[in-house]
Amino acid sequence: MNSELRQEYLAALGLKSWTLRTAAGPGSSPAAQAAALAAAIPIAAPATAATHAAAIHSAALPIAARAAREAGVDWPELRARVAACTRCGLSATRTQTVFGVGNLHADWLIVGEAPGADEDRKGEPFVGRAGQLLNSMLHAVGLAREQVYIANVLKCRPPGNRDPNPAEAAECLPYLERQIALLKPKIMLAVGRIAAQNLLHTDKTLGSLRQQVHRFGASSVPLIVTYHPGYLLRTPTDKRKTWEDLKFARDVCSRV
Ligand code: URA
Repeated sequence: MNSELRQEYLAALGLKSWTLRTAAGPGSSPAAQAAALAAAIPIAAPATAATHAAAIHSAALPIAARAAREAGVDWPELRARVAACTRCGLSATRTQTVFGVGNLHADWLIVGEAPGADEDRKGEPFVGRAGQLLNSMLHAVGLAREQVYIANVLKCRPPGNRDPNPAEAAECLPYLERQIALLKPKIMLAVGRIAAQNLLHTDKTLGSLRQQVHRFGASSVPLIVTYHPGYLLRTPTDKRKTWEDLKFARDVCSRV
């Protein structure tokens, strides 16, 4: 990816000012600024990962009985089961299920909360404004949407975009757990509090879960937590922290 294109994606993350703090300041030419930006994008130093590796947290294992329902199921069968699912009340209000999308050999799995109105209509996760920002976040660390796999904790839209309730999450999580088992990602990125809390079975705040290598499930997939793009649309000042999380995740992934 050339530096100008990367600069565009970083700009979507609100990181223009970060660029201009480098040697090429506000008065310098666009070419000089682009060059300074490219030089300033760090490949995280080993010390960073080593520091964080000390803070490893284990997610509780999924409830065995629920997980067993999907054991051994392949991608087509899993997709069919999700499409026909009536395990919770959201099946009555959805337009369609939102299974997940992306490369079935992806290193990165991005996990969000639940489909919104756009996703419910199109049947694909993260296709609205939050999805556009997610694409920019991925591009900023050199990933195209098509290279990763994207899914949600819930496969159906909660009416009015309310938070998923615990019973809905408990019914739906085994589908995601089977997706993870089939995909075998090198890294998982939980975007937002709901995804992080459900995947890690915790009620800790998002802020306290960031910048640590958590581990998911029996296969101990490294899991990094960052802000939800929908939240970042409302709170752009936290984009800088998100950029730190993305670089951290990229660094962890490069060491798997
Ligand atoms: N927010 C999510 O968490 N997931 C989507 O698919 C869309 C918006």
